[in-house]
Amino acid sequence: MSAPQPVSSAVSIADLTALAESKLDRVAWDYYRSGAWDETTLARNEAAWRELEIHYRGMVDVSRRNGATTLFGRTVPAPLLTAPTAMQKMAHPDGECATARACSAAALPMCLSSLSTTALEEVRAATTAPMWMQVYISQDRGFTKSLVERATAAGVEAFAVTADTPVWGIRERDMRNGFRVPDGLRIVNLERPGGPTGHTGVGIGGALSWTIDATLTWKDVELLASWTPRPILVKGLCRPDDVRAAFDSGAKGVWISNHGGRQLDGAPATADVLAACCAAARGRGPVVVDGGVRRGIDILRAIALGADAVAVGRPILWGLAAGGEAGVARVLEILRGEFDLAMALAGVRSTDEIRALGADLVHRR
Ligand SMILES: Cc1cc2nc3c(=O)[nH]c(=O)nc-3n(C[C@H](O)[C@H](O)[C@H](O)COP(=O)(O)O)c2cc1C
Repeated sequence: MSAPQPVSSAVSIADLTALAESKLDRVAWDYYRSGAWDETTLARNEAAWRELEIHYRGMVDVSRRNGATTLFGRTVPAPLLTAPTAMQKMAHPDGECATARACSAAALPMCLSSLSTTALEEVRAATTAPMWMQVYISQDRGFTKSLVERATAAGVEAFAVTADTPVWGIRERDMRNGFRVPDGLRIVNLERPGGPTGHTGVGIGGALSWTIDATLTWKDVELLASWTPRPILVKGLCRPDDVRAAFDSGAKGVWISNHGGRQLDGAPATADVLAACCAAARGRGPVVVDGGVRRGIDILRAIALGADAVAVGRPILWGLAAGGEAGVARVLEILRGEFDLAMALAGVRSTDEIRALGADLVHRR
């Protein structure tokens, strides 16, 4: 048998993806990688970034560069954070705490999924960087209110409420595999007193079906905002009118996302709707974008289209599977390094400069 490949030898997110595939069992790999139905949105998310050409500037002194940005009053060294992904202990026994420690070392924000396999307080204690939390507003509003209050007390700095999941999307690989939450893993933050702790349903649905609610409307964003003084972002938007509605409902930020192509297949790639959504958000609060970001140049492209920060979902899972905390650290290091290099090669020195150049710097082919 050949010796295990260290994560430090991975030079790209693609290398770490291959390493993760070699380590994960087929069912977990399929759960993490898959998208809804024909996976067209999943594929488009990655392809659409690559279609954006960067019209770099020459003869600019780029010897000093700074990728820092400010999100809700906290300055972070790069416009990069981790997207919320369910069940990180399926990728590595250290799960969400490994992600948190890697984010802490890099001083980058982490957004925890409410479907985490580690209690939110434990994750909060593992990072000194900003920690955000994703929430589904459940059918049991009282439960979600107490979860948000608990998270606020624990020091969660912002909440991302997911808007693209009125019902669970269909991932056919999971159906074929009969995917269920593995024995021994618990969706700890969503255990209700007297409720089931096992998750016997097929897919993530089953016993967790009460955690989402098909009746949600913008009124529920107002309700959520009344439960916490912390800023709320609405995650999973693709339309400028929804961006405006989110701010009108009390959100302080928006997150352009299609859930990594796992909900409505046929939804547009986030890169294709970002500029219009950023125009609708202008001056009202930060715009985060995720979906298919696999290179630092994608971060530059997103900032040029008007985003304030970029989130990555699967790359973090691949890093985690490949090497726990060290793997996540390597993912962050690669993306940050590539972003810095992309700034230099594009003739820009700061995120403000990228944003100011905007459509002058990045054009669709
Ligand atoms: C395995 C997996 C689990 C996810 N779980 C959640 C979740 O619990 N809540 C949520 O709002 N989004 C969830 N997402 C969506 C991510 O937050 C993010 O929008 C998406 O992964 C971004 O695309 P990318 O994976 O191409 O970076 C999940 C995505 C994946 C791949």
